[in-house]
Amino acid sequence: MKEATIQLPRQMSTLAEGIDNMYYFIFWVSVFFFVAIMGVALWCIVKYRASKHPHATPPGHHDVLELFWTFAPLILLIPMFHYGFKGYVRAMVAPEEAIEVRVRGKQWAWDFYYPGDTEPSPSELVVPVSHPVKMNMSSQDVLHSFFIPEFRVKRDVIPGMYTSVWFEALETTSKYDAKENKVLGEPLDLFCTEYCGTSHSQMLAKVHVVSDADYKAFINGKDRAPEGKPLAEVGAELFKKNACNTCHTTDGAVLVGPSLKGLFGKTEQTSAGAVKVDENYIRESILKPQEKIVQGFAGKTMPAFVLKDWKIDALIEYIKSLK
Ligand code: CUA
Repeated sequence: MKEATIQLPRQMSTLAEGIDNMYYFIFWVSVFFFVAIMGVALWCIVKYRASKHPHATPPGHHDVLELFWTFAPLILLIPMFHYGFKGYVRAMVAPEEAIEVRVRGKQWAWDFYYPGDTEPSPSELVVPVSHPVKMNMSSQDVLHSFFIPEFRVKRDVIPGMYTSVWFEALETTSKYDAKENKVLGEPLDLFCTEYCGTSHSQMLAKVHVVSDADYKAFINGKDRAPEGKPLAEVGAELFKKNACNTCHTTDGAVLVGPSLKGLFGKTEQTSAGAVKVDENYIRESILKPQEKIVQGFAGKTMPAFVLKDWKIDALIEYIKSLK
């Protein structure tokens, strides 16, 4: 793996080196011609200034020179096109043995579905080292963009169609901790790089690269509830992980949806009449948010969540604790 330079972050995927070489080639060619052309222009300004040469004497036409500067750039442009196109094709076509992870972008979070999953794992992508991984991406609402700088992959995530990227990570960043049932380490950042609404800047996720064995252990353990932890605490973590906090505050302020402070036990006026906020109402509001919309929030669309029962239990406990 190559360290970061002033211009580019660490090279953490097999695609990175070729992309960077191409980038630097184009960059230095541009620097060379910028300096050369500006240099000649400045030299001409001084040498042929009006006080010394009051009358213009145009040099006329020079066929050899014209042909030279028409065709000489081809020598640079042909390799740029050749290696650029080759690199593009390589980055677009995933190897057949790639693990396929479905990615769903939504305002304002990333959901990941590992092979066979029906329930998403939000905000944290775990991938094995030295194995190609393909992201099959779609959007639930508006245009987003999937960007992991260290892997040099970036592609729009578009409503109504699928796009994909693939990468093969060069080094592990993290380890799976079986006791905590968590992946810990120094993950890479995944950004959304398309302005997609008020909380766009919070549409972030972490990317953990782990060993093959750790990846298998993570896949086996990811749907288990953590043991020996208060349920409300588990709920608080899920609240952040599922990006609930990008729309709902816990301090009484209104962001997009209603605040959850002191919500439990309250009676709310909703689109389906007065409702007492209890376990069943919260459960329904997570799974089918459009059923009973609190007055004043019509037109604010909360996405429906698919969550295992233990996760819903934990979220309810957390909301109960927000007195
Ligand atoms: Cu999604 Cu910005």
